[in-house]
Amino acid sequence: MTASPSENAGLTLDRISVHFGGLVALDGVSLRVAPGRTVGVIGPNGAGKTTLFNVVCGFVTPTSGSLALDGRPLRPRPHRLAGLGISRTLQGVGLFSGLTVLENVLVAAPGSPERALAALDRCGVGPCAGDLPGHLPYALRKRVALARALVSEPRLLLLDEPAGGLGAGEIDELRELIESLSCSVLLVEHHMDLVMTVCDEILVLDFGRPIAYGTPAEIRTDEAVADAYLGAVA
Ligand SMILES: Nc1ncnc2c1ncn2[C@@H]1O[C@H](COP(=O)(O)OP(=O)(O)O)[C@@H](O)[C@H]1O
Ligand SMILES: [Mg+2]
Repeated sequence: MTASPSENAGLTLDRISVHFGGLVALDGVSLRVAPGRTVGVIGPNGAGKTTLFNVVCGFVTPTSGSLALDGRPLRPRPHRLAGLGISRTLQGVGLFSGLTVLENVLVAAPGSPERALAALDRCGVGPCAGDLPGHLPYALRKRVALARALVSEPRLLLLDEPAGGLGAGEIDELRELIESLSCSVLLVEHHMDLVMTVCDEILVLDFGRPIAYGTPAEIRTDEAVADAYLGAVA
């Protein structure tokens, strides 16, 4: 039986494993990000979150397993993501230090200064358009990176630890921004609280293995999740 397009719509990961030599960074991870949904991936440090993100971006080729976009096999390549309607921010910031804030966003929208300014405004950093990123506080630089990811109006936005290095108030603002997005979001994040409030579904990884998948309410009461997080601080 052929699945209807709606059943296949969005990004699908099917039993993805990644081995780095003898280290198993991901072990049979399956996931679906349906249109308009926000899906979180959480787990302690070293759980494999960034590796999963890198698989979707094409920075890491899985040892086994497959990806699909709208039911069609996907072999992601970093330079082809934009053409597929996928954009990303990286862990940290990753702006060009020699370009102004506006020029950094224009890299993703050549010849469209109005759109670049609108994306900056939307992320609350319009007034910084003429500044060099190095002159801005870290939280504002992260917003510029988000504006650069949003300017192409992606259908799927990939965020790796967007809350990393932010204070509580800044995380609240990030939460509002993520909630205002209409595209699908794959949110890889260490911060349980942020993920619990913005995500429709959450995958929990521990040492590369999927240990839980469900709604925030389900994850909050999951014993394996509690064990993994308590284990991480013990
Ligand atoms: N390129 C790499 N080569 C070897 N090991 C790696 C590489 N990238 C990540 N790892 C290892 O894979 C595991 C998962 O790392 P990572 O995906 O960065 O975790 P997280 O983002 O959840 O903190 C860690 O043990 C890490 O040291
Ligand atoms: Mg990481």
